[in-house]
Amino acid sequence: MAPAWLKSDPKGCPYLFLAPMEGVGDRCFRKAMAFVGGMDRAVTEFIRVPREAHVKSLAKVYLANELSSFPLTAQIMGGEPDLMAEMALELEKRGADHIDINCGCPSNTVTGRGAGSSLLKDPRHLYEVAKSVKTAINIPLSLKLRSGFDDTSLFEENLLAAQEAGSDFITLHPRTKREGYKPPARWDLIAKAKKLLSIPVIGNGDINTVEDAFNILEQTKCDGLMIGRGALMNPFIFQQIRAQYHQKTFTPSWELFEAYLKKFVSMFPVSSLEKHKVNKLKQLTSFLCSEKAPFAPLKKSLLSLQVKTSQEYLNHMLNLFQTIAF
Ligand SMILES: Cc1cc2nc3c(=O)[nH]c(=O)nc-3n(C[C@H](O)[C@H](O)[C@H](O)COP(=O)(O)O)c2cc1C
Repeated sequence: MAPAWLKSDPKGCPYLFLAPMEGVGDRCFRKAMAFVGGMDRAVTEFIRVPREAHVKSLAKVYLANELSSFPLTAQIMGGEPDLMAEMALELEKRGADHIDINCGCPSNTVTGRGAGSSLLKDPRHLYEVAKSVKTAINIPLSLKLRSGFDDTSLFEENLLAAQEAGSDFITLHPRTKREGYKPPARWDLIAKAKKLLSIPVIGNGDINTVEDAFNILEQTKCDGLMIGRGALMNPFIFQQIRAQYHQKTFTPSWELFEAYLKKFVSMFPVSSLEKHKVNKLKQLTSFLCSEKAPFAPLKKSLLSLQVKTSQEYLNHMLNLFQTIAF
């Protein structure tokens, strides 16, 4: 059954998820995004559940109140039904109000161990993993799927297996594992999933503007949206989508953008080396300065900048960004 919270807001804005993004969309980014607001919930990057995992220790990485004002879904990734169930239950005990199973990670290390997108090779196994988790927990479960492993031949079977196992909704990133992140995402498959399933379908993939959000909703009739890279490129995207539904416009001020970046930096673990902190800032810069973004012309100079501290790097970023109309 769809969770009670998975619904549009009173003005019709669909439920908005901040996507899980391992290595990029980490706690620092999630905290900075929560500061800007606009989304309904965030999803952690995958928490790996390897064979012989000690779930109690692994689950400690999850902090239910990490974002205080927004709920945080715990995403788990593994291929052993019993261990996955044990981990999901442990996360529930730690305060998680929703578990998501990663059925999409394309990394060869992960798929070689029978987890992530390799679950899509065998709908029966996908069913067993999902069913085992669903039976163990008392909170909603979802599966985040790609459209297939090598191709889409098992697309429908995988979706039905997820539904039959008791997944309360699914999120679809409509690319196969083989397609990686190659554009375009096949929104037509989201429309197909929506027609096939009776549980809600969350649309994901290449939603980078407010216009994209309206287009995917119109083309697929999906029940909610999940946005990843679009939020790295434009941290105000959720506010801007919501504002449209509220017959308003959301124009971010320079001060808010500055505060967003400062929040991001302030969340770096104190134990991190300065060079790692600078690299984190460069990683964010590469998204903020992506091809169609207003900051694109600054990409080369900012990525080649050699500085010793993250504070210096941040100062340069702010000085340069301020030269461009926001
Ligand atoms: C760097 C990176 C890391 C990702 N890590 C995860 C992950 O941990 N779990 C997951 O389900 N999807 C992960 N994804 C996939 C995204 O959640 C999302 O499905 C995909 O990027 C398409 O959405 P987008 O176009 O809005 O980014 C990752 C994507 C990227 C780019």
